[in-house]
Amino acid sequence: MRELALNILDIAENSLAAGAKLVRIAVEADFGADAMSISIEDDGKGMSEEMLARVTDPFTTTRTTRKVGMGLPLFKYSAESAGGEFSIASAPGKGTRVRATYRIGHVDRMPLGDFGGVALQLVTMNPHTDFLIEAAADGQRGALDTRELREALGEDIPFDAPEVRSFLKEYIRENLVDIFGGRL
Ligand SMILES: Nc1ncnc2c1ncn2[C@@H]1O[C@H](COP(=O)(O)OP(=O)(O)OP(=O)(O)O)[C@@H](O)[C@H]1O
Ligand SMILES: [Mg+2]
Repeated sequence: MRELALNILDIAENSLAAGAKLVRIAVEADFGADAMSISIEDDGKGMSEEMLARVTDPFTTTRTTRKVGMGLPLFKYSAESAGGEFSIASAPGKGTRVRATYRIGHVDRMPLGDFGGVALQLVTMNPHTDFLIEAAADGQRGALDTRELREALGEDIPFDAPEVRSFLKEYIRENLVDIFGGRL
């Protein structure tokens, strides 16, 4: 079964491919309102309006004009099939913001899955990109900001050093995963 965490990874990979220096990922849940959202925002190269129109509706595009990617359509589908909405905004040279919302209790909402694993993978495997990864549930918030981590560690200690990795794993669990109490 697909997990929303894998959609997050796909969309963040678009940001990396677009040369982003900073990628912001936020998962927010309001259990009282049965609502959750996922947003991924980057400062990469962005897209033209024409390109934007095509990527959000690839199935209506004639096959010869471009390779049809699946990252954005699948993310859009995940939201629209779970009582939510999808939006994307982009400006050439500025960046891109993608957002999906969901009804938490909708029968077709995919589980969040291994969000912590995806966060760990993104941070340790992309040492030259900064990430601000945030989780919020019912007013409680947690965040991992690699700019702060970079400052604390200094330039000589890589994020994938074993001791940093195990620190990150624990930090992510406490701040980005446990906050949802297994309810997503
Ligand atoms: N954050 C982004 N910044 C700039 N361009 C983007 C961004 N996200 C998507 N795009 C553009 O939209 C296209 C479609 O993205 P999508 O994720 O749907 O498919 P893909 O990345 O081409 O292929 P796949 O995800 O299936 O490997 C990308 O090839 C890229 O040109
Ligand atoms: Mg993609």
